[in-house]
Amino acid sequence: MNPKLPYDYKDLTPHMSEEQLRIHHSKHHQAYVNGGNGLLERLDKARKENAEIDIKATLKELSWNIGGHVLHSLFWGNLTPAGKGGGGKPASPLSDALSREFGSFERFKKEFTQAASGVEGSGWAALSLDRLTGRPLVMQIEKHNTNVYPTFKILMVLDVFEHAYYLDYKNDRAKFIETFWNIVNWNEVNQRFQQALK
Ligand SMILES: [Fe+2]
Repeated sequence: MNPKLPYDYKDLTPHMSEEQLRIHHSKHHQAYVNGGNGLLERLDKARKENAEIDIKATLKELSWNIGGHVLHSLFWGNLTPAGKGGGGKPASPLSDALSREFGSFERFKKEFTQAASGVEGSGWAALSLDRLTGRPLVMQIEKHNTNVYPTFKILMVLDVFEHAYYLDYKNDRAKFIETFWNIVNWNEVNQRFQQALK
């Protein structure tokens, strides 16, 4: 099963409608969970029977499904209802790290927005952390699993697959990205940041 949401389907309105969130979570995210589990079962079965399996195709599909599951789980956790912790700006120490790296919070927001709007086809924008240097980095992930930096800890993600916004915003990805800032759970992102530095 995919993880239960920390809020109700209706709680992110008007930024994300109940129908949009319900379908995204219960159908799209669930499909990656089912897909990943199915592939793992197929691998288990082939090993038990010592049968041939197309390893290249299986691993590629597995990476897509597990990447999808992991990123969606992070996504639900870094959202929260507007006005109940959602939106605004991060507190210290994340705010200090962002200012140090990007010059200002506004500059970070601009780069993250550009990363999200510039994803070709389906993908994600992510704020990640290089744990070795403590430097935050914006990633532009294609699909669920391309351009990911191994060992970098992902702190915050924004899903820009069309399935994430089409019911609410049709093809207007820019509007969806703009509204995302109203429901960011900065408290959670800040906690992930501090956890990653330990
Ligand atoms: Fe999604």
